[in-house]
Amino acid sequence: MTRGESEHRRPRPGAKRRPKRLPYSDIDPSRWREYDHIWTDSLWLIEARDRSGGHRFDYHGNFVPQIATQTFLRYTREDDIVLDLFLGAGTSAIEAVRLKRRLIGVELQPDLVGTVRDRIPPTLLDSRIHILQGDSTLAATSDRVRGVLATMGTPHVQLLVLHPPYHDIIPFSSDPADLSNAPNLEAFLDRFEAVARHGFDLLAPGRFAVLVIGDKYARGELVPLSFYCLERMQAIGFRPKAIVVKDITGNEIGKGRASNLWRYRALAGGFYIFKHEYVMIWRKP
Ligand SMILES: C[S@@+](CC[C@H](N)C(=O)[O-])C[C@H]1O[C@@H](n2cnc3c(N)ncnc32)[C@H](O)[C@@H]1O
Repeated sequence: MTRGESEHRRPRPGAKRRPKRLPYSDIDPSRWREYDHIWTDSLWLIEARDRSGGHRFDYHGNFVPQIATQTFLRYTREDDIVLDLFLGAGTSAIEAVRLKRRLIGVELQPDLVGTVRDRIPPTLLDSRIHILQGDSTLAATSDRVRGVLATMGTPHVQLLVLHPPYHDIIPFSSDPADLSNAPNLEAFLDRFEAVARHGFDLLAPGRFAVLVIGDKYARGELVPLSFYCLERMQAIGFRPKAIVVKDITGNEIGKGRASNLWRYRALAGGFYIFKHEYVMIWRKP
């Protein structure tokens, strides 16, 4: 570098500092004091579900919008494409609209797909927000996602969201392709891995995936679904970035009398009542 060039690069006194964004978000670390709204602790105690910005709470099994808010702000830029392969009632689609991200969502249940489509502003539907009905375990569904990506002018998404059923603890539908109807744990994990593998292939290298998952009890034993899914994610090639423990109090509907029953069962059975689930952050190398 010549002397002239180095002088050219030095900022002039009084010149405005250029924002130094991270390669995968709009966050400028040099302005770190301005990001009070972005969480960096690994324990999320969420007092109340965010009901603003079009979020409604009428689907058992949806996640709190704050999961989408935090991870979209942290791991995507405006206009980036989020892929949610278990879209459910569309929490991530609503949040993508609010935060000016694009999204492709896949959900198995046709009636849910209709409901979510009705919630998306018509000007964005099928241009910035794409909602597909399909079975995310299938290669044919991935091909349809690739087709949509082609219309958006890119081969890859910039964030993958995976919020599968926690095996059979909530039966989501009677469709045999539904992961909540997997006949046993191995079948559930194999199907989960198939979906995550399609997501891996569709994700841009260097970008992130969010897995929201909890554990369950069966026949007096803990079934650590989260840990089994973690192993499958690693087997696919995802690299672990962070594990957040999130309280699930905000998810619970109709506590009250049932909570006394659970307390009795826990005391009598020697187990602990679940109060947490995991938000795992992964990176594709
Ligand atoms: C835990 S919920 C996701 C909730 C979502 N995060 C939300 O906030 O509404 C899991 C969803 O996966 C869907 N599902 C189950 N098996 C599927 C499959 N093979 N392909 C696509 N979606 C599936 C279920 O119908 C259910 O809506």
